Amino acid sequence: MLRNTADSWGAPAKWFHWVMAALILAQITLGVMAASWRLSPTKIELFFWHKSTGALILVLVVLRLVWRLANPAPALPSGMPAWERAAARSSHLLLYLLMIALPITGWIVNSASNIPFRIFWLVPLPAIVAPDKSTADLVALVHRGLAALLALVLVAHIGAALRHHFVKRNTVLIRMLPGAWRAP
Ligand code: HEM
Ligand code: HEM
Repeated sequence: MLRNTADSWGAPAKWFHWVMAALILAQITLGVMAASWRLSPTKIELFFWHKSTGALILVLVVLRLVWRLANPAPALPSGMPAWERAAARSSHLLLYLLMIALPITGWIVNSASNIPFRIFWLVPLPAIVAPDKSTADLVALVHRGLAALLALVLVAHIGAALRHHFVKRNTVLIRMLPGAWRAP
């Protein structure tokens, strides 16, 4: 089942969700480790993986958005209060915005710091702003703030998914899990 239906997600939407969830959780860990490691070859290597994974996330989120726009999301459970619907919709929108804004601000920091870099040793990352220390410092601050916001929204997101499953006992979590699922 490729396309989303009225009550479940199709395989590509699930694939995007879980592959990107794993990459983003690894990416937050890599970012915190890279930023706090003492200056050494390991720190450079952590940044290499952080930037390469970040570039991959940017490519994936663009493909995911194209797929998402062509495939309407399944409906939320019928009894869900209006505020919860609004919270679900706006937090999902915010997650998409953060998945775009984080790699782009990271890219700006890398460009402004004038550090040549090849994504996974292969593709040279072009500079999108001129080298400038104050731009690099300011945008690094924005990048860190956005990463902290992402971590907060994810705590709420994962908490909400668990609440749907264990407290409200609806199918919201089940229908995102891998494998076919049909409404009873
Ligand atoms: C253990 C971790 C996670 C769990 C249990 C989880 C669970 C879910 C569930 C159940 C949905 C479907 C909601 C619905 O059917 O209306 C969903 C949607 C979504 N999740 Fe997660 N999620 C997790 C991690 C993440 C991560 C790390 C991200 C990264 C930003 C993320 C981003 C999203 C987005 C953007 C949607 C909305 C999909 C859309 O409307 O196209 N999730 N998540
Ligand atoms: C979804 C994608 C990304 C996430 C979630 C993310 C997250 C993070 C986190 C959590 C930190 C550590 C902040 C701290 O503890 O001070 C960080 C730092 C950093 N990231 Fe990213 N990042 C992403 C993409 C990128 C990309 C694509 C690049 C570059 C091409 C990049 C470059 C940097 C740099 C240079 C720093 C150090 C900033 C500083 O000087 O404090 N990031 N990132």
